[in-house]
Amino acid sequence: MLYPYQIRTVEEYQNAYRESIENPEAFWSSVAEHFTWKRRWDAVLNWNFKDPHVEWFKGAQLNITENCIDRHLATRGEEPAIIWEPNHPEERTRVVTYNRLHKRVCQVAQMLTNLGVQKGDRVCIYMGMVPELAYAVLGCARIGAVHSVIFGGFSAQSIADRLEDAQATYIITCDGAFRGNKDIPLKSIIDDALIGNKTVKKVIVYTRTRTPVSMIKNRDVWWEDEMEHAESQIERDGVVSFPAVKMDAEDPLFILYTSGSTGKPKGVVHSCAGYMVWTNYTFINVFQYTPGDVHFCTADVGWITGHSYIVYGPLSAGATSLMFEGIPTWPDAGRFWDIVDKHQVNILYTAPTAIRSLMGYGEAPLQGKNLTSLKVLGTVGEPINEEAWHWYNEQVGKKRCPIVDTWWQTETGGILISNLAGITPAVPGWATLPLPGVQPVLVDEQGAEITQQDADGMWKGNLCMRAPWPAIIRTTYGDHERCRTNYFATYENVYFTGDGALKNEEGQFRITGRVDDVLNVSGHRIGTAEVENAINMHAGVVESAVVGFPHDIKGQGIYAYVICTNLHKDENMTRQDILQTVSRIIGPIAKPDKIQFVKGLPKTRSGKIMRRILRKIAEGEMANLGDTSTLLDPGVVSEIVDGKI
Ligand code: WT7
Repeated sequence: MLYPYQIRTVEEYQNAYRESIENPEAFWSSVAEHFTWKRRWDAVLNWNFKDPHVEWFKGAQLNITENCIDRHLATRGEEPAIIWEPNHPEERTRVVTYNRLHKRVCQVAQMLTNLGVQKGDRVCIYMGMVPELAYAVLGCARIGAVHSVIFGGFSAQSIADRLEDAQATYIITCDGAFRGNKDIPLKSIIDDALIGNKTVKKVIVYTRTRTPVSMIKNRDVWWEDEMEHAESQIERDGVVSFPAVKMDAEDPLFILYTSGSTGKPKGVVHSCAGYMVWTNYTFINVFQYTPGDVHFCTADVGWITGHSYIVYGPLSAGATSLMFEGIPTWPDAGRFWDIVDKHQVNILYTAPTAIRSLMGYGEAPLQGKNLTSLKVLGTVGEPINEEAWHWYNEQVGKKRCPIVDTWWQTETGGILISNLAGITPAVPGWATLPLPGVQPVLVDEQGAEITQQDADGMWKGNLCMRAPWPAIIRTTYGDHERCRTNYFATYENVYFTGDGALKNEEGQFRITGRVDDVLNVSGHRIGTAEVENAINMHAGVVESAVVGFPHDIKGQGIYAYVICTNLHKDENMTRQDILQTVSRIIGPIAKPDKIQFVKGLPKTRSGKIMRRILRKIAEGEMANLGDTSTLLDPGVVSEIVDGKI
């Protein structure tokens, strides 16, 4: 069986693309018809990018969990929805059928209702990669509570900021999480995050690692107890049910925090209908999913990739989604290949940073692993270098699996630019073509469309989108103006991605990386201003400037130039203290790779830090620093060059 809107040839792609641009309403209406609605839409699309204001399927009512679960029960009830692979290979795999998923999600919905959670309430989810995380996400969606998942690598301070911004009233967490040989004390981090918090009423704790936790009376409850109670309420005469709450198409589905150029992460808001249609449409078409395939997306549900391509996209397509608790290199660098072999994985979707890191272990970890089940490979999160692309193609795909290079962002909800596996051509390092409904345009610094080709016949500029696709960001939580200025005000009448790109004569795109002050470290998005704020919290620090530099495995590393007062102390100790501070304020993922102590920073006469120069030095391009004559004190530059690490 194929999906009715599955593109199967280049010609079908071209037709779908043309139709989606010429007649978007008819196009998306014919896709949306295949979903389960409680009420049909009055209008397919209303929009302007000035406010911005975007509405898809206005007037429609639905619940995304009916589309991800209930509608599959009659035909796929006993098929696996989630295959869960634990961190420790010797622990048993769990297979969650659609019937079982239905029951668990109904139970969570009942549990949350029992605890007082209502439609529209913000529920923060801070859990490891266990099936209960998917149940929690979908349980929220079933009752219309807005989930905000926070990645396990963020610190108590980061969680506290997000709880405050979202005015969250409930938290779902675990005692701890296993990741490789580490055991992360999630509940204890939540306890720290809650010091001084005034909004959170209840914390639900799922037992995973059996690490001791402090359970606070009247606030903390055990998942297991509450779920057991809920079970008796949702099951009558062997029939499980919990009514899925009616949601308006544009009601918020979730908030996900992400970094920008300012010091404060923003809560990206996605709404129900458009996000559902887009994640489903892109999942089916980019990966060319066929029912029965096992799809393994290695991301964490704490990031958008996990939301869209572990949970909502695959489940809405009735797919089997493999969820892995651990990391690629533990207990050894053959872990992914063991999983592919063991579960006969058909689609593997991972990040270039993981590929580069595994590449470093050579071919030995692949030996003896049966990878013949693989049909499609995918990458996401950062540009992929050709060496890694070829290794992935040859060693993993054995040159018989198309590779999709999928470009998208937290704000886009799902994939916007990618080849379609085995249908449209792959080009190493290129994301290639826009999906139907996506209208990329390259502009110069003034916002004018690039019309001149460069010497290589390419157009080069800042990547923008001319029109909305169904899963475009709707707002930044609690601050719509921030959404406008961040994405819709840099250039008139377009959505600005923050990325630079090249386009060739075939209309294919190559993403060159961020053009703003956002870093991409191992596929994790980190704002330089955020890291600077964290470093500046350290008592001995006067000022700092953070830039990225090319890193063999992480893609980008973090380079910090720091002015300190008390370097009479052991320099290395101060360095460790700064790392500890960043870890506390943001989380271990934001720790600088290099810290260089400097006496001054290169500033213009108006006091602006010349980051261009600092970037060049961090990249090792000392010979080519450009014009430094406008600096307040050109002398600091040579001092910094001499002290480079
Ligand atoms: C940024 C978005 C999309 C989910 C994971 C990251 C970079 C993403 C690619 C790609 C080159 C890519 C961009 C983008 N990026 N995919 N295939 N090729 N760069 O989501 O944290 O919102 O980061 O990741 O720079 O703007 P995110």
